[in-house]
Amino acid sequence: MEVVVLQDRTDIGRIAADAVSALLNRKPDAVLGLATGSSPLSIYDELVSRYEAGELSFRQARGFTLDEYVGLPADHPERYRTVIDAVFASRVDFADGAVQGPDGLAADIPAACAAYENAIRAAGGVDLQILGIGTDGHIGFNEPGSSLASRTRIKTLTRQTRIDNARFFDDDVDAVPTHCLTQGLGTISEARHIVLVATGRGKAEAVHHLVEGPVSAMWPATVLQHHPHVTVLLDDAAARRLQLVDYYRETYRSKPDWQGI
Ligand code: F6R
Repeated sequence: MEVVVLQDRTDIGRIAADAVSALLNRKPDAVLGLATGSSPLSIYDELVSRYEAGELSFRQARGFTLDEYVGLPADHPERYRTVIDAVFASRVDFADGAVQGPDGLAADIPAACAAYENAIRAAGGVDLQILGIGTDGHIGFNEPGSSLASRTRIKTLTRQTRIDNARFFDDDVDAVPTHCLTQGLGTISEARHIVLVATGRGKAEAVHHLVEGPVSAMWPATVLQHHPHVTVLLDDAAARRLQLVDYYRETYRSKPDWQGI
């Protein structure tokens, strides 16, 4: 696991966008894993800028979102399918239908989850997965206690996650859905490169467990310690509880330019 402590969200966006650009240059039909929430916004903004500058195209690429609330009406602005369009997909040149998400309105939820797994597999798997992390250590919406081998399925959101996400629902925690569909930890772990972004003090405890804690379903993101290619991009505040932070800084400073992340 590579840990990179950067100045701010802008730097994080630039470094992550460099990795996406390098991938699309060598594989224009790459499959991107797309997180929603606030953490990846600077990445999406940077990718949009590069697209607008003519440096990047998503015309042959595909995207899969991580998760979706269950039961939010199709026209609800916080539906993740709508959110990813607004913050990223509709701002670049993805082909129609190239970005997919789990169907939180499906009548047959297990069938919808299986179909989503099949769609990811049929696309050849995710080349680069962008992730945020919840204050309780979730990735996707794999809340504490999730099986480290889990696949796409329905989950109940913790009270903490609903409180954290109430800011998107006029600060009304009761308006945040109780259930979601999420790629499982086993599903996410199959992505070839994982870029996890965390900023702010509120994420420091989860980041501490992710990077330096024991692997445990109580902190679901720790499953990433088993993955061969994970890059964790942090600001100072999110890195403040890391015991080896000086080592991570020194390692990144002395890294050869050609290596990328
Ligand atoms: C969103 C997702 C979640 C978020 C996490 C952090 O698709 O899968 O795991 O990444 O809840 O959310 P933010 O970035 O809003 O702090």
